[in-house]
Amino acid sequence: MSTQTHPKTAPQRAKPAVAFEPRIVGFLCNWCSYAGADKAGAAQLPYPPNVHVVRVMCTGRMDPQFVLKAFDEGADGVIILGCHPGDCHYKEQNLRMIQRHRLFLRYMRQLGYEAERCRLDFVSAAEGEKFAQVVTEMVATIKGLGPLSQRRRQA
Ligand code: FES
Repeated sequence: MSTQTHPKTAPQRAKPAVAFEPRIVGFLCNWCSYAGADKAGAAQLPYPPNVHVVRVMCTGRMDPQFVLKAFDEGADGVIILGCHPGDCHYKEQNLRMIQRHRLFLRYMRQLGYEAERCRLDFVSAAEGEKFAQVVTEMVATIKGLGPLSQRRRQA
């Protein structure tokens, strides 16, 4: 006697939940943070593989459109990493980025994005450990917020 059930009458099993892995775009300045990320890699420091790096010459090059484009293309979060204040290779451009970031966060809130989805921080070429720490924190933050597309659908 067969114990198989007919496919149409078999009870539907719930699909196993797939853990959410955030997609994060990281805009890294060429002179400090990109080298910091390189150092983290060379030292084989453990950090989540969720960041897709885009190298920019300086955080002063960042345009809010880059961040919006990253969200539109499927990113759940964005990190912008540059030289520490006072160390920018283009004088005070990263200080201007700090001001621009504040304005941008206000704009993001108006659009319905959580401000935590766009983080600005500073990582020098010698700070591989800080790079790994920032990435790890950002992944945890975005996991807590959930996928961006889901949040948009609910809005
Ligand atoms: Fe690194 Fe300007 S060169 S932030």
